[in-house]
Amino acid sequence: MLKETSYKTAAMLAAVAVLTVALAATVRAADDATGNSMQAQIDHGKSTYASKCSHCHGPNMMNSGTITPDLRAFPDDKTRFVTTVKNGKNNKMPPWADILSDDEIGNLWAFVSSRRKP
Ligand code: HEC
Repeated sequence: MLKETSYKTAAMLAAVAVLTVALAATVRAADDATGNSMQAQIDHGKSTYASKCSHCHGPNMMNSGTITPDLRAFPDDKTRFVTTVKNGKNNKMPPWADILSDDEIGNLWAFVSSRRKP
């Protein structure tokens, strides 16, 4: 009786250990080459967006789409994104090259990509 209980406890502990290892592996797999997790990049991009872009492109990228384009519909084209954000466009979209670092623009891209409409 006592022995059976301790087998069960041991089995449960083993299961918890396996789950912990699996979880740690999943978190590591999401890290990029620079060691920043994708989620960390998205979070940074989100706060940069909120302070620098949201007054024109709408809170959390939601706007009527009539004055500024809906960034959730922006194509999966990082080069075009980085170029526009750095240089601006048509004197309406301001240039950010002197204000945002490449890392910050990369994080913005991670955030925009995370909100892309299917
Ligand atoms: C002063 C208002 C304003 C701010 C601030 C602003 N934008 Fe824009 N953005 C615009 C307008 C207007 C356009 C449309 C320009 C056009 O197509 O003529 C645009 C277009 C864009 C485009 C589409 C470009 C393309 O190639 O089609 C992207 C991407 C973009 N903005 C990203 C951003 C990001 C990221 C930020 C914050 C760093 C930002 N914008 C801040 C007004 C703004």
